[in-house]
Amino acid sequence: MKKLAFVGLGVMGYPMAGHLQKAGYDVCVYNRSHEKALKWQQEFGGRIAETPALAAADCEIVFCCVGNDEDVRSVALGETGIIAGLNSGAIFVDHTTASAELARELNNVASAQGKLFLDAPVSGGQAGAENGVLTIMCGGEQKVFDQAALIMNAYGRFSQLMGSCGSGQLAKMVNQICFVNTVQGLAEGLSFAQKAGLDTDKLIETISKGAAGSWQMDNRGKTMCAGEFDFGFAVDWVRKDLGIAFAEAEKIGADLTVTKQLDGYYQEIQENGGNRWDTSSLISRFKE
Ligand SMILES: NC(=O)c1ccc[n+]([C@@H]2O[C@H](COP(=O)([O-])OP(=O)(O)OC[C@H]3O[C@@H](n4cnc5c(N)ncnc54)[C@H](OP(=O)(O)O)[C@@H]3O)[C@@H](O)[C@H]2O)c1
Repeated sequence: MKKLAFVGLGVMGYPMAGHLQKAGYDVCVYNRSHEKALKWQQEFGGRIAETPALAAADCEIVFCCVGNDEDVRSVALGETGIIAGLNSGAIFVDHTTASAELARELNNVASAQGKLFLDAPVSGGQAGAENGVLTIMCGGEQKVFDQAALIMNAYGRFSQLMGSCGSGQLAKMVNQICFVNTVQGLAEGLSFAQKAGLDTDKLIETISKGAAGSWQMDNRGKTMCAGEFDFGFAVDWVRKDLGIAFAEAEKIGADLTVTKQLDGYYQEIQENGGNRWDTSSLISRFKE
């Protein structure tokens, strides 16, 4: 039985770690608030560690899924961090959506100690994590990816090595840029349809089969029309992700004019108390 560890049992990490344990691996978990680790153990079995370093001890691979760059640093670095706890030749896979710069920094720290690193942000949301059908975008060495990919199959439907370290995070930035622009297009179209007095159920059933169809339209179109915004990926999170993409765009000279406008719309939603609404809440700006 391969020994693995998972650090960060949030909305995403909790079910991901659960899939690993259910797949027959010997999983040790660490979570900052201990109660979540206890709840996880009651549900899935497995082991609990007191620090990320202790979780990583003797593991072939350690996975992590926390909030942002600083959160990753706090579980990865220092004496009690994942990297210190890893054996030489063991792998640290970070599933957090973070900067490409952080991925390179962690890779440097790990490789200086003979340890291996893969950045591996995910797409597919809470439902994707629970159903084990995430898309995983990776950056690192081929041999490291090959080893990790076999195990990530427990919760991933598709994994791709995009290139060297940081490339997984760059791919995730593109994913976020494309997806918020799709949501805004859908919000404008559906709000137009409501003002025009169209039957939006019939409309979605019809145009989702043509060139305007999208995952967003299939999964969020009807709830957007109903003003329901309780479907996982929160406005606070998407603004964190867009901030990472804007910083990278500045460095590489990419133009994100329209995406910046959408970030301003999400900021308006936050200011009106919609921090925890899901990202399809862009349509709420069209309601009188
Ligand atoms: N939710 C989604 O739909 C989704 C989809 C794709 C990607 N993501 C990305 O996946 C990552 C995790 O998202 P999530 O929805 O699972 O978040 P979440 O539910 O808020 O969970 C965050 C996890 O990170 C831990 N954590 C946060 N800061 C920490 C720190 N400084 N030290 C130690 N542990 C810390 C939390 O521990 P506590 O329990 O102690 O707070 C918790 O286990 C984020 O980068 C997010 O952008 C999320």
